[in-house]
Amino acid sequence: MKFFLDTANFEEIKEAYGWGVIAGVTTNPSLVSKEGNIDFYARVKEIADYVQGPTSAEATSMEKDVLLKQALEIAALSPNIVVKIPCYPDGLGVVKELSKKGIKTNVTLIFSANQAVLAAAAGATYVSPFVGRLDDISEDGIRLIEDVKEAFIMGGNDTKIIAASLRHPAHVLACAKAGADYGTVPFKVLKQLFNHPLTAKGIDQFNADWAKFLAAK
Ligand code: G3P
Repeated sequence: MKFFLDTANFEEIKEAYGWGVIAGVTTNPSLVSKEGNIDFYARVKEIADYVQGPTSAEATSMEKDVLLKQALEIAALSPNIVVKIPCYPDGLGVVKELSKKGIKTNVTLIFSANQAVLAAAAGATYVSPFVGRLDDISEDGIRLIEDVKEAFIMGGNDTKIIAASLRHPAHVLACAKAGADYGTVPFKVLKQLFNHPLTAKGIDQFNADWAKFLAAK
């Protein structure tokens, strides 16, 4: 499984990129609004130019014509933009139009395998099943990833699965084992993935022994 960083915070993106494990970035309107009074288009372009990898940014209108116009404006910001479109009937109509123009899409707010299959039928490049939000309502988010994976394998389509709404490291590993192509993780969760007390203890011990070696020279 590859990693996207789920954030609109530029400092987080720069730091995480230095760690060598991030293939791209996903944002959503809530993440952008957390950044305060910023220009949405400017921030998305800044991120896309920096990461040089898939950068998902969301179009939000419930009117099909407006959604398409907004999607085209977002796509024009950078060649590596992926337009995020919520999963509803006119949204998938827009996904079809965008796919005919060669514009990459990420169908978001996926909560059932049928929604993922529909998105793939419309030509979505990626689908984003939300794991944590399903768990929040006592359903099984990991089971959703397993179901989407099985349906996509059986259907022979090449739409990629981005496991989203990942809240902790156990979610990440379970999604990797369930066959998600990507996991999009908040910065805090990405940092948690590196941690193990024995790694920290081992580093301290090796550094202390190396210092002794240098002192003896
Ligand atoms: O990528 C979607 C993700 O940002 C949603 O996460 O934690 O708001 O459910 P969450």
